[in-house]
Amino acid sequence: MSLTVGPVADRPARLVVLVSGTGTNLQALLDAAAEPAYGAQVVAVGSDRGDIEGLRRAERAGVPTFVHRVADHGARADWDRDVTATVRSYDPDLVVLAGFMKLLGAAFLGCFGGRVVNTHPALSPSFPGMRAPQDALDYGVRVTGATLFFVDDGVDAGPIVAQVSVPVLDGDDVETLHERIKTRERVMLVETVGRLVREGYRIDGRKVEIGP
Ligand code: GRF
Repeated sequence: MSLTVGPVADRPARLVVLVSGTGTNLQALLDAAAEPAYGAQVVAVGSDRGDIEGLRRAERAGVPTFVHRVADHGARADWDRDVTATVRSYDPDLVVLAGFMKLLGAAFLGCFGGRVVNTHPALSPSFPGMRAPQDALDYGVRVTGATLFFVDDGVDAGPIVAQVSVPVLDGDDVETLHERIKTRERVMLVETVGRLVREGYRIDGRKVEIGP
C-alpha cells in the first residue's frame, strides 16, 4: 500500500465507525468529537448486528445508524457490497473499525483502502484474531497492549499507525486484562484518529507517517 492523504481542512472530518458490541471505543470518539477542536465528527455508525450497546450509544448521540447482517445476504460478497454502498453514502474521510468483528472484503477495501483503521487488543504482530487478550494470557507474556493499523486483506496485519503497551499482572483473567488494555486503547484511538485527519498521513509499504 502506498498512499498520501492530506489533512482535512476548513471543515470537520467525516468519520464512519463500525462496531459489533459494547462500543466504549466508539463512545470515546463521540465524546472527543463533541469538541470542535477535535476536528472530526462521527457521521454514521454501522454494525453487523442489531440490539447492541454500540448502536444505542450512537442513537443517544443523535448519530445515524445502520445494520447489515451477514445472514441476511446470500453471499458474503453481497454483504460486503451492501456495507460498502452504505458507508460510501456517508462520504467518510476515514472509516474506523472499533470492535467490529467481521472481516471486510474486496469491494470495501477497493473503495476505502488506505482510509480504514482498526483497533486490535494486542501488540501486533503478536496474537492476531478474535481472542487476543486470552491468547496473550495463555502464552504468558508480561506485556501486551493495543494496536491501531490500516486495514488490508490480512487479519490484523496491516501497516501499524500506533501502539500502546500495558502490563499483564499476576492474577489477571481475560476480563481484567482486556479492561486494562481498553482503558489505554481508547486514548490511543482518539488521539491517533484526530491526528490522522487533522494532519494527514502517508502510507509507504508497512510504514505510516502522520503529518506533512
Ligand atoms: C476492543 O478491545 C477492540 O480492540 C476489540 O474489541 C474491543 C471492543 O471494545 N476488537 P468496545 O466495544 O469498544 O468496548
